[in-house]
Amino acid sequence: MKIMVLNGPNLNMLGIREPDVYGSKTYSDLENYIEDYCTKKGIEVTVLQSNSEGELIDFIHHSLGAYDGIVINPGAYTHYSYAIHDALASVDIPAIEVHLSNIHKREEFRHKSVTAPACTGQIAGLGFRGYLLAIDFLSEEASCRD
Ligand code: DQA
Repeated sequence: MKIMVLNGPNLNMLGIREPDVYGSKTYSDLENYIEDYCTKKGIEVTVLQSNSEGELIDFIHHSLGAYDGIVINPGAYTHYSYAIHDALASVDIPAIEVHLSNIHKREEFRHKSVTAPACTGQIAGLGFRGYLLAIDFLSEEASCRD
């Protein structure tokens, strides 16, 4: 089981950025949290981050044949990147969209996700734990398919 965790713009600023919304833990805390969990569960994981839409799209394209599942937090691209939607739709890999904050409880422009329709599901508002729940779902689904 190989999972790619993809984080979009400004997630590298965790710990500094709006701590009242995103908490005080840093991006490297998030990487360690995901990697430690996957090591314990025997799941191979690659955690990536980019502030650029094109690079996120390239990561999604390159996941074809390399990963069994994608966990993606597209950051603000969630709300307007049809290109990331299309990239997810173009690779036939199950994807779960994760948001640290509950986007439905925040400003109206965050309520809409244009990327979620290309995903199996969405988890929002559960902080770092959302990533682990998404990983659990993808690995359980993959073992059902075996
Ligand atoms: C976010 C929510 C987005 O609206 C925002 O632009 C982010 C982070 C989240 O994880 O809660 O960058 O995706």
